[in-house]
Amino acid sequence: MKKYLIGNWKMNKTLQEATEFIKYLLPQLEAIKKDIDNSSLNLMLAPSFVHLFPINELIYNDSFIQLAAQNCHHETQGAFTGEVSATMLASVGVDCVIIGHSERRIYQKETNDLLLSKIKKVLAAGMRPLLCCGESMEQRNAGEHKAAVHQQLKESLIDLTPLEIQKLLIAYEPVWAIGTGQVASLEVVVEMHDFIRNILSDQYDILSDQYDRLGEQVPILYGGSCNPKNAGAIFGCPNVNGGLIGSAALQADHFMEIITALLKA
Ligand code: 13P
Repeated sequence: MKKYLIGNWKMNKTLQEATEFIKYLLPQLEAIKKDIDNSSLNLMLAPSFVHLFPINELIYNDSFIQLAAQNCHHETQGAFTGEVSATMLASVGVDCVIIGHSERRIYQKETNDLLLSKIKKVLAAGMRPLLCCGESMEQRNAGEHKAAVHQQLKESLIDLTPLEIQKLLIAYEPVWAIGTGQVASLEVVVEMHDFIRNILSDQYDILSDQYDRLGEQVPILYGGSCNPKNAGAIFGCPNVNGGLIGSAALQADHFMEIITALLKA
């Protein structure tokens, strides 16, 4: 399966800093171009909304990097001051939208139903939704980690058609591993990615005779304190199809090291 690497910059970087990052990254990527088969690696950056358009201008001719947004609104358009619609994102060159990051679930109180509406809007605008799931430490300690992730997936993916499932990406991001330096152990990564793969396969493999094993084709990315040191081992785990990287994606040289680790995995 194709590999995916997405740098989620969250609320970081001025336009000048973002531009410097891209100007450093492009020649580095050029240097390893021969190792990157465009059909095998999908590299994306998710800057803040305000930097999407200028960054798209910088990477326009570079087929290796695509643009992701960190969120979108669940309505098509209208009187929602301060919000950004999926259609607006598509119009500035965005390919993928991160939906349901745990920081939005926690601080903006986003619910699974709301995330389903957002996923539908992203798909309708012709982009790919990347749905984040993952349990809190309390849920893990109570032995409820699988039930929590199952519920997130079930409630936010209900009703998707086979064609829509083909565009979906999932990120497993345990909340306790995000920004803490406490990366999930390989046992946890294997266990949870396997669990998510089984849910997707159970739900979608039999959906339609026309589409071959849909659930097995959905990329599942790992996120949470992934860095140049631990990336290789994580990307080597079964059912890990790439990474969603936070703090280590803020430094271009660290991001490059993670790209190299993914290419080797
Ligand atoms: P960190 O890599 O900083 O833990 O963040 C992960 C994340 O939230 C990516 O979306």
